[in-house]
Amino acid sequence: MRIAILATNPDLYSNKRLMEAGKERGHEMRFISIRNCYMDITARKPEIHYRGGEILKKFDAVIPRIRPSLSFYGNAVLRQFEMQKSYMLNGPIAIGRAQDKLRTMQLLCSKDIDIPRTGFANSPLDTKDMIKTVGGAPVVIKLLEGTQGKGVVLAETAKAAESVINAFKSLKGNVLIQEFIEESAGTDLRCFVVGDKVVAAMERRAAEGEFRANIHLGGTGHKVKITPQERKISVAAAKVVGLKVCGVDIIRSNDGPKVLEVNASPGLEGVEGATGKDIAGLMIEHIEKQVTKRK
Ligand SMILES: Nc1ncnc2c1ncn2[C@@H]1O[C@H](COP(=O)(O)OP(=O)(O)O)[C@@H](O)[C@H]1O
Ligand SMILES: [Mg+2]
Repeated sequence: MRIAILATNPDLYSNKRLMEAGKERGHEMRFISIRNCYMDITARKPEIHYRGGEILKKFDAVIPRIRPSLSFYGNAVLRQFEMQKSYMLNGPIAIGRAQDKLRTMQLLCSKDIDIPRTGFANSPLDTKDMIKTVGGAPVVIKLLEGTQGKGVVLAETAKAAESVINAFKSLKGNVLIQEFIEESAGTDLRCFVVGDKVVAAMERRAAEGEFRANIHLGGTGHKVKITPQERKISVAAAKVVGLKVCGVDIIRSNDGPKVLEVNASPGLEGVEGATGKDIAGLMIEHIEKQVTKRK
């Protein structure tokens, strides 16, 4: 098969592993840099051009690994590949949903999947009441399109929360307000879903003095056994967002597991390191099965 990895940086661990895993399984792998693509948007013959003038031949499958800073352009290029009817390991609509934490939370709730109590408001006039509604301080405040923990803030008091929320708002940043799950003590679960299965899971532990468990913020990944319920929730979360491959972040609360978010381009390094599993290979295998099924 001809498989494209649509991404930005060929030297990233995840992208290198996917290229490698595809080649090992006998496929023609090509790294396509999002920035080098431009599009001829025409009925019946939509084309993707590559810097220098090459017109890309149709791929059997495309693996999108779009970084948040390039989501607008990346999704546009991905839609172009979709028009050419290549198999998408995650389509643009599902990726768009996952990029928006508010939309993800609403989708999860529509399927009765538990999340931490969450509020969203437009006017600063409603900030105080919103904080109260999610249970009062401390609260977690999140930029809707943040990733790698960067847009996530813990406010210890209602006053601090109000200042942070209104500061974000004055910069036109949209934030949601969330109940702080203190008992998780800086740990969460990253459940890696491929198709309709959790193929690997790790517990992430935040760095000293940090409540966010993201690997990018110094969190570490550890082997963990997840419960059948956590497994079921992860698969249901992937399904409602519409992603075939994703990383579901779950926090263990006194009230049971709660989903924090669903990541459309989950990193492979932490989870392959913690579990010793060949996740890249499993992703390629999934493509093989799906493309064969389509034919
Ligand atoms: N409501 C919460 N209570 C406690 N910790 C949280 C909560 N929400 C997020 N966290 C911590 O912050 C991290 C980042 O939050 P997340 O919603 O996954 O955003 P990001 O997209 O930036 O990873 C989580 O992995 C978790 O460790
Ligand atoms: Mg996360």
